[in-house]
Amino acid sequence: MDNELNELYQQVILDHNKNPRNFGTLDHCTHEAEGFNPLCGDKFDVQMEIDGNVIKKIMFNGSGCAISKASASIMTTIIEGKTVEEAEKYFEIFHDLITSAPDAEIDEDALGKIAVLAGVREYPSRIKCANLAWHTMHNAIIENHDTITTDK
Ligand code: FES
Repeated sequence: MDNELNELYQQVILDHNKNPRNFGTLDHCTHEAEGFNPLCGDKFDVQMEIDGNVIKKIMFNGSGCAISKASASIMTTIIEGKTVEEAEKYFEIFHDLITSAPDAEIDEDALGKIAVLAGVREYPSRIKCANLAWHTMHNAIIENHDTITTDK
């Protein structure tokens, strides 16, 4: 990834960490899950209001490092308003990106906002941080109420 793009992506991540979107709790929640990173003890809850097949609202709360918080915030801005199937598709796209080689080409059009997380691939120890809220969102959708840990 070129330096200019990397810098731009870093700014977006810093912004989402400083001003996380959809941070808090929902008054009316139909689906929720808890995610935990045992390596550091960081924890996020993801709550959703799903009406029919549409994720009308999504919020997250808890505490985590800058990458985990920014990734959670970005995830909520992507998922809100999408259908459950679309959310699961984005989860797959995110997963494929984060597990790809650090120097693999990225298709910004296909990735959309997820592309800003591409830089995390260069820091294997931070991949679990970026994963945390995404896996938690997936668990909330499939109604798995076991705490998801980044070891799984
Ligand atoms: Fe805990 Fe990143 S250091 S989630």
